[in-house]
Amino acid sequence: MRRRLGRECLYVPSCRLGLYLALRHWCPPGGRVLMSPVNDDVIFFVVLAAGLRPVQAPLRADDGSIDSAAVPESTWRGLSAVLTANLYGNPDPAPELRARCDRLGIPLIEDAAHAIGSVVAGRPVGGIGDASAFSLSKHTGAKTGGFLTVADPTLREELARARDLLLEPARLTAELAYGLRPYAEAGVRGLRLTGAARAALRLLGREERTGIRMELRPNELARALTAAPALDTLHPWVRVDLHDYRLAPGRLRLRRTERLLTGLDERLAAHLEGTQRLLDTRWALPRPGPAQPLFRVPLLVAHRDAAIAALARRRITVGYLYDPPLDTYAGERFTDPSPRPGPAAWFARHALPVDPLRARQVISVLTEIDAQPARPPVTRHAPVRVPRMQKYAPPTTPPTARTPPAQLPVRGEPGV
Ligand SMILES: Cc1ncc(COP(=O)(O)O)c(C=O)c1O
Repeated sequence: MRRRLGRECLYVPSCRLGLYLALRHWCPPGGRVLMSPVNDDVIFFVVLAAGLRPVQAPLRADDGSIDSAAVPESTWRGLSAVLTANLYGNPDPAPELRARCDRLGIPLIEDAAHAIGSVVAGRPVGGIGDASAFSLSKHTGAKTGGFLTVADPTLREELARARDLLLEPARLTAELAYGLRPYAEAGVRGLRLTGAARAALRLLGREERTGIRMELRPNELARALTAAPALDTLHPWVRVDLHDYRLAPGRLRLRRTERLLTGLDERLAAHLEGTQRLLDTRWALPRPGPAQPLFRVPLLVAHRDAAIAALARRRITVGYLYDPPLDTYAGERFTDPSPRPGPAAWFARHALPVDPLRARQVISVLTEIDAQPARPPVTRHAPVRVPRMQKYAPPTTPPTARTPPAQLPVRGEPGV
């Protein structure tokens, strides 16, 4: 990873723990963090656990990336950090965000969980912020592990010490369960028992998500937050989907991770090929620049849930859905809402995240059910942000030919 990114890297048992470490290191408790509302709810709880207030960013409807130009000036001024999402591997505008953060003197932290092979402005995603966190559960398929990377190499030792204080000691039972899990899962799949296994977990009350979003439990959450910054009290929310997120890795875990990481380039090549295939379909929008080895390709379909059901009938599970956006999910008690929620809600509702490794099968199912493409609405009410020095003031004297009428600045003009 150091070679790929040209930066110091620190192994962490999960991306979420890496992000927690970064947020604790760079942000004073009580600070505000701009983040994407179309993101895993786990990351929302990581921000809360770090004692920070999530501030939801406006997004672009076509690809779900952060629309930095639509962030109001007043929001920028109150921030302690910006956290990108790089959803499905599609980069957020990190160079623009970096420039903004530099002007404000705040850190840029990149969540590169989905974006291990993605590039933005000629640089690897994760190589632009003050810190970035990667997940080895995604492209690599290790289902454990990640990396925290830092721009300033002198911070590595300090962060390693902070990480070690957060780790739970390796447990033989957890290590064994990790080692056996792929075989158990393959067995269940081979016997076509996936549905039955899910139903059994539901019956046993062990299913953590009954919908896309985990249950919020607002009153419990509010109580847990009185202890923030702290990971322990937020544990029930932060651990969802990966209970070993802070477990020190045993030898088996590290060996499997190492082996899978060795095959990363081939994996990325396969993701790139599938991505290109999916981007050539009518459910994708043309994208500028060369294709990236996306982790998931967000096709835009009119009746997304019908498509998901059709895919499920062919035993293709669609994951990584983030609907509704986090501000709708958690409400103003726990987050500042996006100033322009419409495009994010539209994208969250219509994006069908397709695994590029299954591109052919998915295209065949979508063709068979004649799935209709969805196209994002044109944003008519883009906020016109009036810079403070240029506020409109009604003229005190009627305008003459020599004093042109005062005009509101138009969005898109230089400096607006
Ligand atoms: C966008 C995003 N960031 C971070 C994470 C957390 O990664 P990990 O499971 O390695 O903690 C996830 C998990 O799915 C994710 O989807």
